[in-house]
Amino acid sequence: MSDRSHAEAYEKVHTSIFPSSAEAAKALAAEIRDLILEREKSGKPVVLGMATGSTPVPFYRELIRLHEQEKLSFKNVITFNLDEYYGLNADHPESYACFMREQLFDHIDIPAENINIPCGSLPREQVFAHCREYEEKIDAVGGIDLQILGIGRTGHIGFNEPGSSRESLTRRITLDRITRQDAAADFRGEENVPRFAITMGVGTILRARKLVLMAWGENKAAITAKAIEGPVTEAISASFLQDHPDARFFIDTGAARELTRIKLPWLVGPVSWTPRETRRAVVWQSLQIKRPVLKLIDEDYNEHGLSDLLSEQGPGYQLNIRIFNQLQHTITGWPGGKPEEEDTYRPERAKPYPKRSLIFSPEPQDAIVGMGGTIDRLIEQGHDVWVISMTSGSLRVPDSEAYKFASTLAELAGNLSNPAAWTTQTTYAREALRQLDEKGEFGEDTPMLRQLKGLILRGELRDAAHALNVLRQQIVFLNLPYYEHGRYRRFKATPADAEMLKKLLQEKKPHQIYATGDAADPSSVAGIGYKLLEQVLSDLRGEEWASACTLWLYRGKEKPFEPHEIDMAVPMSPLQLDRKLRALSRYGSLTSLEKSTADINRATAGHYDALGLAEYEAIESFQRRTRQPQ
Ligand code: F6R
Repeated sequence: MSDRSHAEAYEKVHTSIFPSSAEAAKALAAEIRDLILEREKSGKPVVLGMATGSTPVPFYRELIRLHEQEKLSFKNVITFNLDEYYGLNADHPESYACFMREQLFDHIDIPAENINIPCGSLPREQVFAHCREYEEKIDAVGGIDLQILGIGRTGHIGFNEPGSSRESLTRRITLDRITRQDAAADFRGEENVPRFAITMGVGTILRARKLVLMAWGENKAAITAKAIEGPVTEAISASFLQDHPDARFFIDTGAARELTRIKLPWLVGPVSWTPRETRRAVVWQSLQIKRPVLKLIDEDYNEHGLSDLLSEQGPGYQLNIRIFNQLQHTITGWPGGKPEEEDTYRPERAKPYPKRSLIFSPEPQDAIVGMGGTIDRLIEQGHDVWVISMTSGSLRVPDSEAYKFASTLAELAGNLSNPAAWTTQTTYAREALRQLDEKGEFGEDTPMLRQLKGLILRGELRDAAHALNVLRQQIVFLNLPYYEHGRYRRFKATPADAEMLKKLLQEKKPHQIYATGDAADPSSVAGIGYKLLEQVLSDLRGEEWASACTLWLYRGKEKPFEPHEIDMAVPMSPLQLDRKLRALSRYGSLTSLEKSTADINRATAGHYDALGLAEYEAIESFQRRTRQPQ
C-alpha cells in the first residue's frame, strides 16, 4: 500500500492506494472488526453507514469471512444505508434492500431491527416525513461512527448528484443521466432505470464521525482525482470530503491513475526514470505544449519540471529521438507479426506464421467494440482467428428484443403452410411471450427468457463477426456458468468457470491472446473474465505453448490506453473503420459508451499525429502483458 507523502501538496484528503480492491477491502474490514471488538467491551453499539453498488462487494465478502471464520458477531451493529431507488419495493431484485440482504445481511448475525434502509415504495406524500424520520433515527442512536462510500462517475456520494448542497439532508432526488446510463445493464436498458431515488444528503453523510470512500478501476480514475485534488464544489459531491476532519479515500491502482503522484510523478518528488516513466514524461510534455516530440527543446524540459530527466538522459534532442523511435515502433499494420520480415523492432514476432489468435470477449460485443479493426486485419492476413464470447451477455438484452424475436417466431410458425408441423415453435414462442408479460418491465428473467436473450446476442455476434469475415465455426460461445447464475455487480466466479477456460486454452494452444478487463472494476463482467484468464494462464505457464504466447490487452468499454502506455498501435483506414462500424451496427443493445468507439479510435490517431508521427484515420491500441521470449 502506498500512502501520500510528497503528494500532500496536491491531495487534499487522505488517500491510500492499494494494489487491489481485495487488499483495500481487507484493511477496512479489519478496522471495522477492531471497532466492533472494542465497543463490545463497553457494551455500546457500532453504527455503520452502508453503501451498495459494485464497490463495496469485496468489502462485504470480507466481513462475511470474518463472521464465518473468525466468529465476528454483528449483534451489536446498527446500520443505515445511504440510499434506495424510488419506485422499487424491497423485494425487487435491483432494490438496494435486496442487494444488502444478498450481499451481507443474510450471511451475518445482525438483528433485523438494527437494519435501516430508506423505503423506496412509499407514496409521494409520505416521502418527506419518512426522510425526516430517517435523519432522526440516525441521531437517536448517537450518529454514524463510520460511513462507507462509493463514488459515481458524476462524483456523487449516496445519490447526491451534481448540485447537491453541503447542507442537504435525506430526500428524494432525480438521478443524473450518467448515473442512469451506468445502471442501464442492471435494468436491461436505460429506459428501465428508475428516475428517482431517496438518498441521505451530503450534510447527513458529513455528520458521520469517520468516512471511507472506496473506488476501484480506471473508469473511476478521472472523477476520483477531481474529488481528491480539485476544488470543493457542489458539482462533485465527493469533494466535500476534503472538509471533513476524518475522511479517507481507499482506492486501487486503477482508480489512482489520474492522481498527480501517479500521472505526473515528477511534479511531486524524485522519480526513477524507467523506460515507461520516461516515455510518459516526454509524451505528456509534447501533448501538453502541443509541440511534436522531435521539436521539443531543452527549455521545454526545464519549464515542465523535467530538468532531472534531462540531466539524467539528455541532451533533449537525443532523448526526443529515442522516444520518437519507440513510439514509431509501436505502429504496425501487422498485429499478427509480419511474415518473412526482420522483427526486432516490431511489436509482434514474425514467426510462427500464420498464428492462432484467441480473442476473448467478456460479453459478445466487447471484442468488436475494442478491436474490430484489428480482427479485420488478422483475418485478412491469414491468421487462424477465434473469437471467444466468455459469457452469454443475456442480462443486457432488453425485453423489447425478446418480444420482437418471440412474436416473429409465433407469426412465422402460424403462417406456414403446415402449421401442425410447427407446434413446438408456436408453443415456445407463446410461452416466451407469456413469461415476458407475466414478469413485467422490472421483473427478473426466467431461465427460458435468459436463454432466449442469450441466443439473440449469439446471433448478433455471428452477424457482426461475419461483417469482419470471421467464419461462424471460429466463434466459441463459452457461456461461463458464473454469469448464468448471477446478476450484474454480484457475480462470483467458480472453479467450473476456470476449468472451462483451461480446457479451451489447452485445446487451442494459441500463439497470441487478446483480452480486456485488467483495469476494470473487479466485480464487472470484464474484470471477472480477466481475473479468471490470468489465473488459468498462470496455472498453465509450464506448458510449452503458454510460455511462447503473447498476451495483448485491449480496451473494450474501459478508459482507452494513453499514448505512452501503448505497445502496439494498429492503424485503420477510413474504409476499415467503416467496416468496424458496420459490424457494430449489428448489435441491438449497445450503450452510448460502446457506440462512441470510433471517436475513441480517432482520438488515439489524433494523439499520434500530435506527437509528430503519421496521421491516420483511426487507431486501435494494445498493451503487451507478457514479454515474448527472446
Ligand atoms: C450506492 C451509492 C452510490 C454508489 C456509486 C458507485 O449506495 O450510494 O453512490 O456508491 O454510484 O457505484 P458502483 O460501486 O456500482 O460503481
